[in-house]
Amino acid sequence: MEVENRYVAVRHHVERYPSEEDFEVKAAAVGWTPGSGEVLVKNLYLSIDPYQLNRMKRHSASHHSVEVIVPGERISAYGAGEVVASACAQYKEGDVVVGVLAWEDYTMFRPDATTLIGKVDDASSSGFPMSYHIGVLGTSGMTAYGGFYEVCKPQRGEKVFVSAASGSVGSLVGQFAKLAGCYVVGCASTQAKVDLLKDKLGFDDAFNYKEEPDLKSALKKYFPDGIDIYFENVGGEMLEAVLANMNAYGRVAVCGAIAEYTDRGRRAAPDLLEVIYKRITLRGFFAFDFVTKFQEYVEIIGDLITEGKLQVVEDISDGLESVPSAFIALFRGENVGKKLVKLA
Ligand SMILES: NC(=O)c1ccc[n+]([C@@H]2O[C@H](COP(=O)([O-])OP(=O)(O)OC[C@H]3O[C@@H](n4cnc5c(N)ncnc54)[C@H](OP(=O)(O)O)[C@@H]3O)[C@@H](O)[C@H]2O)c1
Repeated sequence: MEVENRYVAVRHHVERYPSEEDFEVKAAAVGWTPGSGEVLVKNLYLSIDPYQLNRMKRHSASHHSVEVIVPGERISAYGAGEVVASACAQYKEGDVVVGVLAWEDYTMFRPDATTLIGKVDDASSSGFPMSYHIGVLGTSGMTAYGGFYEVCKPQRGEKVFVSAASGSVGSLVGQFAKLAGCYVVGCASTQAKVDLLKDKLGFDDAFNYKEEPDLKSALKKYFPDGIDIYFENVGGEMLEAVLANMNAYGRVAVCGAIAEYTDRGRRAAPDLLEVIYKRITLRGFFAFDFVTKFQEYVEIIGDLITEGKLQVVEDISDGLESVPSAFIALFRGENVGKKLVKLA
């Protein structure tokens, strides 16, 4: 069996803001045979994530954990799809699978102990839209839940600040913080996003950070009694402003630093005296640190959705050719919630 496959590649390493010219859609036939031991998946949803930009760079600390993307080659990415041919007993035609696929129409893989592709009906969470298994019941949920509960260790009544709060991870963290009995403020780049945080997602307050000339004073206004927990998604001057407003024994979960991904010269310069004298903990983490708890998280999060206690926000583009623009949108703040591409 042979299928025509199209895949998205970068033309060269990308060191700054990505643009459409950095990408190309290439074609290559994929051949599957019954004796191959391989599984052929028709991809249906692809995840669009900021970390891919760091993989596109020639050098990045992220390459310690995630492989560099080679110009011209396929780009592995989380996704969901349907098995169209299988030479392996574990998978059969028609199975819906979720895991590390690629930005392409079809992905072929040979199952082994390292395969990060599971069947959706393996989880107790079937019945939700397929897209949920990539975001809220996938890596975004694992990042938000593990990052908030395991790294931030929230207590009722604590004051929590979330940056990139209307995004895939941030929108979940803010809601988990409310469910944990915390006071939560988020920031985002438009009034529509601020309204979403306050009116639909239940944040106690929210503000447009682009309209604040002085982030330290803005945070002082929203947190007159200081911040106990900061869920860091952006880095840069936001981290500096937060540290100045943090309480003793505050915790910073360093999830991402998107403001720094597009600019090598832009780095947070945290005041270490704040860290020392306030006994602040800054801890970086990686979603897959929580992989052994993934099923547990999926069950908890699935129940919260079913009970109407957790709102899911998705932002879906159509067609493989929209992958580059969907990806670029992340760095322009144009997405609201989990950014996905739906394939035909
Ligand atoms: N540690 C891990 O394992 C892990 C896993 C998943 C994600 N992450 C990280 O978590 C963060 C959020 O990821 P996500 O998938 O949920 O993406 P997302 O928040 O859905 O999308 C990115 C958002 O970041 C904000 N942003 C973009 N450029 C910015 C800038 N220069 N300054 C401030 N904000 C900017 C934009 O929202 P605004 O409207 O707020 O500007 C944009 O919508 C990223 O840093 C990502 O790399 C880490």
